[in-house]
Amino acid sequence: MRVRTVDALAGTACMVAAARAREDERPDHLFADPLAATLAGAPGFAYLDRLANVPTPYVAIRTRFFDDFLLAAVRSGDVRQVVLVAAGMDARAFRLPWPPGLALYELDQPEVLVLKDAILTDSGARATCQRHALAVDLTQSWAEALCAAAYRPHEPSVWLVEGLLYYLEEAVVHALLDRIATLTVPGSWLAPTSSAGMPCGPRCSSRGWRCVPTMAPSGALARTIPKISAPATVGRRG
Ligand SMILES: C[S@@+](CC[C@H](N)C(=O)[O-])C[C@H]1O[C@@H](n2cnc3c(N)ncnc32)[C@H](O)[C@@H]1O
Repeated sequence: MRVRTVDALAGTACMVAAARAREDERPDHLFADPLAATLAGAPGFAYLDRLANVPTPYVAIRTRFFDDFLLAAVRSGDVRQVVLVAAGMDARAFRLPWPPGLALYELDQPEVLVLKDAILTDSGARATCQRHALAVDLTQSWAEALCAAAYRPHEPSVWLVEGLLYYLEEAVVHALLDRIATLTVPGSWLAPTSSAGMPCGPRCSSRGWRCVPTMAPSGALARTIPKISAPATVGRRG
């Protein structure tokens, strides 16, 4: 068994993977994520089970929501670049049917990506896109690393910032959104999750993102929590 030495914040990535694994186990699951249990590991499940408010339904719904959003974005136009900011143990690079030639960038802490890549190598997983895992500190400068990995800032892109912003101080959130703004052109998409007390809308619209009404849950999505109507907001650069 691998010894996991990730810090507390990185441990949240394993916990979220455990929540996806629990959804994957359901016969009526909203998505299949066969790598999630391995990526979560025992610490991820233990972390999840210690939580008073187990977030499995929320994670399941947001996962399916963003799966649909990402695939719709790359199929709708000329977007050929996906950036997963704070990717954690996200396995979308392996489980989604990306169009040919799609480049997907995963940004996260070195400790997380080293562990993740070791697990993926052991499991023989094969990416369904051109995956680039970039070890960065998102509170520092990271645009250079992204561009050095052949990201093209003058072409449209789609960005997912899932499960990160509520861990960061407000000034760091602003710096992150500023950096994303400098790396995106009209026709690009941004999908952040935020907590109820920290809505992303104003922070994103002030940087040129036009809020797009998000879809209500389909019958399948409404299965777990009927009251959830829109787990996230997405924005398009106009
Ligand atoms: C709750 S997890 C979410 C992971 C993934 N987006 C998901 O939903 O499964 C938060 C992630 O943010 C990453 N993270 C937090 N602060 C970071 C920083 N300063 N630089 C890089 N990654 C960071 C952690 O390593 C962790 O993987």
